[in-house]
Amino acid sequence: MRLPDQPSLRDYTDHLAGMAADGLAAIGDAPDLDALEAARVAFLGDRRGEILEFQRALGLLARDDKPEAGKRFNTVKRQLEQALAERHAELGRAGAGYHPPLDRTMPARPQWRGAKHPVTLVIEEIAAIFRELGFTIALGPEAEREWYNFTSLNFPADHPAMDMHDTLYVQDDVLLRTHTSPVQVRTLQRYAPPIRILAPGNVYRRDFFDASHAPMFAQIEGLCVDEGVSFVDLKATLGHFAQRFFGSARARFRPSFFPFTEPSAEMDIECQLCQGAGCAACKGTGWMEILGSGMVHPAVLEAAGIDSEKYTGWAFGMGPARIAQQRYGVGDIRVFYDSDVRFLEQITE
Ligand code: DAH
Repeated sequence: MRLPDQPSLRDYTDHLAGMAADGLAAIGDAPDLDALEAARVAFLGDRRGEILEFQRALGLLARDDKPEAGKRFNTVKRQLEQALAERHAELGRAGAGYHPPLDRTMPARPQWRGAKHPVTLVIEEIAAIFRELGFTIALGPEAEREWYNFTSLNFPADHPAMDMHDTLYVQDDVLLRTHTSPVQVRTLQRYAPPIRILAPGNVYRRDFFDASHAPMFAQIEGLCVDEGVSFVDLKATLGHFAQRFFGSARARFRPSFFPFTEPSAEMDIECQLCQGAGCAACKGTGWMEILGSGMVHPAVLEAAGIDSEKYTGWAFGMGPARIAQQRYGVGDIRVFYDSDVRFLEQITE
């Protein structure tokens, strides 16, 4: 509602009273200091406040009406100013809705965000692939009996392969397990075939700490036992895994030896760090060994109380840290153990 161009005293006082009512309501109802400031600008502001129109209109009134209009103008202005001061005090006291001025350019405080270790990420990804193939997770103790770690797995008492595995003995016949293979026997003792398990866990070895070895590292054991299982199943399953995990990278099997498998094979993947050209990580061969595997030796099945005439099986043990090296292009395995956040931070999924 605007004042007429030639307002009468009546026009003036009516409009002024209307504006005063609006202004007092806006001020009194302001929920916070921002709203109060907006009301101040709208009604008392120097540039576009509603009050200005009435100040200017004073000059348009008939001479005789000016003193009366001026008085009313001053009263309304004072009322508004007083209401403003009161509301300001109220809001300030209650602290209601008080926002300190916001500096949107201020850098945010860094939030500490935990994340999974790269080797854990790889173990989970591998477990997810094998889960689709019907493999369940099985776990075994890290402090293991000699019988499970060696004897049941067909290691002769004085076999030179045990030198590689020589580890810390906690008691006479209890040692820190040197591989996850004992979980095979523990599972076969507890459950009847068909069996398909994946057993991730840490193992301990007399290995030097170098670019591709560590004295403590994670392994993932796999075991499949059923009637009529053959090497074809081993090769097809591990081939499928390699293709799922590494895509088009080439993979190869090499004959090998383990006391608990016959025949035995190791699987290599074309080194992803040098694309097969040969680098320090793959010792110049262009290939990275990622797992050992083979057909479960009948002696192992028999040690676990499984009829080896009826059942056959295949197994593998892989090194997820080696695989994480390949996946994330890490030249030296030791960085996985350094707990250096600058490295670990780069690998989160
Ligand atoms: N236990 C072996 C190691 O630690 C790895 C391994 C090889 C596990 C062949 C297996 C297997 O299950 O069949 O080197």
